[in-house]
Amino acid sequence: MRFPTKRMRRLRKTEKMREIVKETRISPSSLIYPVFVKEDLERGSKEPIETMPGQYRYSPEAAADELKKLEKKGLNTIILFGIPSKKDNIGSSAFDDKGIVQETIRLLKDETELIIITDVCLCQYTSHGHCGIIKKQQVLNDETLEYLGKIAVSHARAGADIVAPSDMMDGRVAAIRKSLDENGFQDIPIMSYAVKYASSFYAPFREAVSSTPSFGDRKTYQMDPANAREAIIEAELDIEEGADIIMVKPALPYLDIIRSLKEEFKTPLAAYNVSGEYSMLTAAIQKGYLTEEAIYESILSIKRAGADLIISHFTPKLLDGGLG
Ligand code: PBG
Ligand code: ZN
Repeated sequence: MRFPTKRMRRLRKTEKMREIVKETRISPSSLIYPVFVKEDLERGSKEPIETMPGQYRYSPEAAADELKKLEKKGLNTIILFGIPSKKDNIGSSAFDDKGIVQETIRLLKDETELIIITDVCLCQYTSHGHCGIIKKQQVLNDETLEYLGKIAVSHARAGADIVAPSDMMDGRVAAIRKSLDENGFQDIPIMSYAVKYASSFYAPFREAVSSTPSFGDRKTYQMDPANAREAIIEAELDIEEGADIIMVKPALPYLDIIRSLKEEFKTPLAAYNVSGEYSMLTAAIQKGYLTEEAIYESILSIKRAGADLIISHFTPKLLDGGLG
């Protein structure tokens, strides 16, 4: 059947009509908000992140206040990133039970009912800024795994609901699963940053948490943006090792990857709408080159590509009625 009998515009006539044929919806429960908590900030205070207008580094108390408000608007889940006051060559404050992330988890567990995911990595905590243990300027794989296990267990002990390794070492999901199980945390899921590209879109985040490597780059552990088939292998390995949720990161420049993992695997799939994706849209909107509707359209594209869960710095804006 075709024109003039077939008319596609019939179903686009009114807002109500368009609503009944809408194929993709974003629900508040599928959104995850990244939250930055900084050690030794004055109690109850926050400081703006210059490279990400509208986002802040919070003290634990200030984070709790902000998150209680967002919870009332439908926020369900957060992912926590810590900014410690001390760094050393093995990232000790990452697995300190009194560390900034651990303290914040305990406070948030008291004051909210949010699902708390924690980013498990060393880079914010190491003096060299790499995601692993360093010897002779090399990022060591197997030596790093033990530390990742310690971080995950420390987070779980503090009350984290899900741990999310973002380091991209080989074998980390299995190593973390083993450490969690040996310490009685069989029920804590792992959300693996399974497909994480060595991306320039992380720049604002690294500025936010001071995790820029002091030498070299992350290309020996994060993926080459040119590779799509390799993403399938990475995801397959992490699922075999026990990942409960897999993630693609960044999101917008990698929609093809999100779609291919969605088709290939049944494991729940998350996508990370990273700092650079936030900052480029925010800058264009501030300049008046784009309107805020571009935010919804971008997030929608990630959902349409196949992400079940979306981690986004835009979450507060979307909860404020930006879900279309
Ligand atoms: C740390 C980590 C990074 C991000 C999440 N965890 C940065 C990196 O790998 O350099 C990026 C988050 C963002 O850009 O929003 N391993
Ligand atoms: Zn890292």
